[in-house]
Amino acid sequence: MDTRGPVVEPDARPDPARELAGRVAVITGGARGQGRSHAVTLARMGADIAITDLGHDLGTVAYPLGTADELAETVRLVEAEGRRCIASLVDVRDLGAMISFVDEVAAEFGGLDIAVANAGVSSLGSIMSMTASDWSETVETNLTGVFNTLRSAAPHLRRRRWGRMIGISSMMGRSSNPGIAAYTASKWGVIGLCKSVAQEMAHFSVTVNAIAPGNISTPMIHNPALYQLMRPDLEDPGPDDVAAPMTGLHVQPVPWLEPDEVSAAVAYLCSHGARHVTGTVLNVDAGASARFTG
Ligand SMILES: NC(=O)c1ccc[n+]([C@@H]2O[C@H](COP(=O)([O-])OP(=O)(O)OC[C@H]3O[C@@H](n4cnc5c(N)ncnc54)[C@H](O)[C@@H]3O)[C@@H](O)[C@H]2O)c1
Repeated sequence: MDTRGPVVEPDARPDPARELAGRVAVITGGARGQGRSHAVTLARMGADIAITDLGHDLGTVAYPLGTADELAETVRLVEAEGRRCIASLVDVRDLGAMISFVDEVAAEFGGLDIAVANAGVSSLGSIMSMTASDWSETVETNLTGVFNTLRSAAPHLRRRRWGRMIGISSMMGRSSNPGIAAYTASKWGVIGLCKSVAQEMAHFSVTVNAIAPGNISTPMIHNPALYQLMRPDLEDPGPDDVAAPMTGLHVQPVPWLEPDEVSAAVAYLCSHGARHVTGTVLNVDAGASARFTG
């Protein structure tokens, strides 16, 4: 048991251009989309990076998931920033595999400072027809996967007595829509999980926050199943057909944001300036939350 007392993070601000020099970050779901963008962003800030992804599709998810080749491309992009990158196909639903991966990363890089629990899937379907696997594959990835990531990282961050944990929720984690119950429930859960862990880690200079993105331009939203959910009146809707209903989910008149806009929030939460921001939710959702949160 660690018997040292509470820690106060030093006031001195590191060089903003290399703010995360000497830090190590693990990011799940790093093969593409937002996870890849977070990896490159934190590498640019000076951190060494470890990424995981699944490497195969899931029967209950109606679009292809990240591949080993895409994971290798993220490694290439991180290394092009002059940082080291470890990558492995690890399923976030498997706690034992996550602990082994994170322990190996910490041993190889000499510790761990940042965990971004980003891996997620979106499954669609009515409560009248959802199967047990529809429910469990989504909840086990999106909620248990975030728990497994935080659980694997927590002992390392506590040992460092500096740390940042970020759980990726969603604007659906603070609101709801029909036909997406498992996803919505899992994302509400991520917020409760992060708030509770934030209180546990507060005495060790480890912050824990959630980010709630709006529609982000990745394969999770750009796929025929989601297009059909948004435009059930059309036979074969495309991106132009869904732009209006997607815009309707936001307040600012934009259908979707780019992954690097969420990475900017990740960068902020990892920065020295956010050292006393913990247990909160940062909305990156073109104003959507103005409608539904206090
Ligand atoms: N795209 C959006 O509109 C949007 C909005 C709000 C929140 N989010 C959340 O942002 C996060 C990133 O999503 P994205 O938009 O980049 O989508 P994405 O599908 O491009 O990326 C998600 C990645 O997670 C990986 N993954 C899925 N299951 C996994 C598992 N069991 N183990 C390891 N990796 C797994 C996928 O293979 C994929 O590479 C997710 O948690 C998602 O729910 C997305």
